[in-house]
Amino acid sequence: MAKPLNSRVAVVTGAGRGIGLAVAARLARDGAAVAVNDVDGDMAHEAATAIAAAGAWAVAAPGSVVDLDDVAAMLEAARNSFGRLDILVNNAGITADAMAHTMTDEQWNLVCDVALKGTFNLCRAALPLLRGSRDNPPVHHRKVVNMASINGIYGIAGNANYSAAKGGVIALTKSLAREWARHRINVNAVAPGYIAGTRLTGARDDNTGLGIPEAVIERIEAQIPIGRAGTPEDVAGAVAWLASPDSDYATGQVIELHGGREMVELL
Ligand SMILES: NC(=O)c1ccc[n+]([C@@H]2O[C@H](COP(=O)([O-])OP(=O)(O)OC[C@H]3O[C@@H](n4cnc5c(N)ncnc54)[C@H](O)[C@@H]3O)[C@@H](O)[C@H]2O)c1
Repeated sequence: MAKPLNSRVAVVTGAGRGIGLAVAARLARDGAAVAVNDVDGDMAHEAATAIAAAGAWAVAAPGSVVDLDDVAAMLEAARNSFGRLDILVNNAGITADAMAHTMTDEQWNLVCDVALKGTFNLCRAALPLLRGSRDNPPVHHRKVVNMASINGIYGIAGNANYSAAKGGVIALTKSLAREWARHRINVNAVAPGYIAGTRLTGARDDNTGLGIPEAVIERIEAQIPIGRAGTPEDVAGAVAWLASPDSDYATGQVIELHGGREMVELL
């Protein structure tokens, strides 16, 4: 049976682990050839090797979404290996939590640079490839999927930098959707809630400052009407739909994926 993303080429940023890895593996399973980006080059190569070992097309495209030379190189990796670009998933993100009054410039800049500026960097640089050349006009919709967060809609205490960056990702998504509709490029976002089992949401590591205290994890899980935390594969499913022809009429949309948690106040 034909797969929904056969003959499509995708770049997924921050895909060495966590949600990005699940997204890259899902797009590959759906038939896309995937350029697997991560700032950690070893993880990018390991992920690409694992996806290729499962019988799909994948190439590593290491580098930082913050560095414009790296951004050009990762897009070139996709073009060199597979000749085109149809799907861009801006997933790379990072946290550096603090209450706003104690937040340093470094914490603010780091998080905004990766999540918001990095997303813009990729979108701007990818446009010529996404549009295709005049000799070869695109016959199908091209897709950009940006990773936002419910924090970018509802806010949260303790990570104003992350929430502001993700709110910016949502506004960027809607603006580009308006600019690029005429090129048949759909630009949408997924805003996950609590997705368990990733580096950002694992148990707090006091050495890196990453992760969430156990007691907070228990409290969050108890608030989710669906009765469980989300998984990277749940997010990958939403991204796969936004990358597929089934979503050709959706643009400028934000899919909230939180098991109903943000409805709780209204129940
Ligand atoms: N886990 C959640 O609950 C959750 C919820 C909402 C949104 N998100 C978003 O989903 C995305 C993935 O998060 P995750 O939980 O899988 O985190 P993760 O830390 O497990 O994975 C993030 C990946 O991004 C990579 N990365 C970091 N900086 C980079 C850079 N400058 N250039 C390229 N790659 C870079 C990391 O090396 C890592 O492999 C992020 O944008 C995050 O904000 C996660």
